[in-house]
Amino acid sequence: MDAKINYETVSTDILIIGSGASGLRAAIAAHDEGCKNVIVLGKCKRGDAHTVLATGGINAALGTMDPKDSWKIHAADTLMEGGFLADQRAVEILCRNAPDAVNALVSWGARFHREKDGRLTQRFFGAHTYRRTCFYGDQTGKEMMRVLVKEVTRRKIKFMEELFVVSLLKSREGIRGALCIDFKRGKLIVFSAKAVVIAAGGYTKLYSRSSSRGYENHGDGAGLAFDAGVGLVDMEMVQFHPTGMVFPKSAVGTLVTEAVRGEGGILLNSKGERFMKRYLPDRMELGPRDEVARAIYNEIKKGNGTPHGGVYLDITAMPKSRILDRLPKMYHQFKELVHIDVSGQKMEVAPTAHYTRGGVDVSLSGETSIKGLFAVGETVGQIHGANRLGGNSLLETIVYGKIVGEEAARLACTAERNKLSAIEVEEAISKLESLQGKAAGGAQRIRARLQDTMWSDVGIVRTGKQMTVALKEIRKLRQQFSAVKVRSGLKNNLELKTALETEKMLLLCEAVVLSAMFRKESRGAHYRSDYPKTSESWRVNVVVTKSGSNIALERRPIPRISPEMRKVIAGLKGRASHKLLE
Ligand code: FUM
Repeated sequence: MDAKINYETVSTDILIIGSGASGLRAAIAAHDEGCKNVIVLGKCKRGDAHTVLATGGINAALGTMDPKDSWKIHAADTLMEGGFLADQRAVEILCRNAPDAVNALVSWGARFHREKDGRLTQRFFGAHTYRRTCFYGDQTGKEMMRVLVKEVTRRKIKFMEELFVVSLLKSREGIRGALCIDFKRGKLIVFSAKAVVIAAGGYTKLYSRSSSRGYENHGDGAGLAFDAGVGLVDMEMVQFHPTGMVFPKSAVGTLVTEAVRGEGGILLNSKGERFMKRYLPDRMELGPRDEVARAIYNEIKKGNGTPHGGVYLDITAMPKSRILDRLPKMYHQFKELVHIDVSGQKMEVAPTAHYTRGGVDVSLSGETSIKGLFAVGETVGQIHGANRLGGNSLLETIVYGKIVGEEAARLACTAERNKLSAIEVEEAISKLESLQGKAAGGAQRIRARLQDTMWSDVGIVRTGKQMTVALKEIRKLRQQFSAVKVRSGLKNNLELKTALETEKMLLLCEAVVLSAMFRKESRGAHYRSDYPKTSESWRVNVVVTKSGSNIALERRPIPRISPEMRKVIAGLKGRASHKLLE
């Protein structure tokens, strides 16, 4: 590949990497703020980002079902669920803006479920004080995507699908663009941009069992930023959703929405015991996700698991008509994949890596340490803390998507275009060439081994000893990767794509393990059986940075919870997390 001949250049004001809800919402906001030169890049096909898998709903304290709800109580629930690791200011922005954000979707035609009198229906999700999750059956993410794609199209925002971003291009002055491969056409594209927004999802695919599909959430977003020198925060905070499918093999990890429990589903072990009575007698199946996931994990470990290594989730008490109204996707998922009718038979479920709360270190308006580079959505850290409330991730995409889109537009309106120098571009391309020059496979095997290692040794329950083994294995795999062979050429070169993703996955796995070893306590989803207690001295963010091949870790203090918020929290009775504030 000759760098001088083989790339096209595309100039834009704002380049958005990622075409899920955050990316699309950012594009709409940037456009509405006056920036008409925006390009959205999707790794997948238009309309098919990971957001379509988000099932159960989106939160906003609208108080349609429980008028006592308020954004402050929503914020209190979010802070408690996150083990007080989230930045209160970020949480308040999220919750205060939630009603407007959801209403904007409604005004664009989102068909959320309504009561007979026209009010939006809101249902319970785990660890919420009130019913505040709005939904469209159990396909809320898909409905949001439908509306957002429509709005992007209506504004004639340019959309380029199935492109893969290899690296960011930057200089001392700031971001300059990104190097990208169009594997379909076999072309290299250099994007030159005044602002770049990374909205490329999370890193749950570092785990062999996850609720993401095979082609998403490999950590592209965090990997691109980390590689470019931006810090990552709280990478150890990986959320394991309590209920994923356990068979057939091809469906292991697929999400079984929390809405099943929100609508009254109960968990049973193989002895028929409703075991949550022993773990969380007050909240039972609707406890915080980390606690429910660990309870299931313990039951399975104790030998009380089902034939396929899960527990039962039973919704047979619910009339079939209601299941079809509220949970149609789950009904058909189990009918098609497992051949059971969930209105009469129990589901088998077990935890699955679902969401990553660590990610790119950004300011409250989504800016990174590189001027003009922003990040949003699951790609960033800090907003949810050590655990995330169900329904808050779809919310985050649209609240912060709007904020970041507007910020990027303001910057792009005033900024001079940073010229791309041929040297920078050629440097990025020669990195790519060095991988290609070596020809003949191996990345897929390394990836599979990496994912198994993460699942078995850096999973729901971790210890320093296990993680030391994992770190050794990751470094060994990294060593092996340096000899990976990939055929040359770009057209349909999926081997190259796998290798490029795997290279970043190796780096991120190391960041996750080092952060998890560094944090010597248990908090939220980070549960270390060798440090089972939560420690006030660890109410800090763990920030990981890379300089060359060196990775460094540091603790960063988190602002104290305000006296006003403490009062709100104190008013919410019976929540175990209160003690974290004492
Ligand atoms: O269970 C679910 O439907 C997931 C929702 C979420 O993670 O927000």
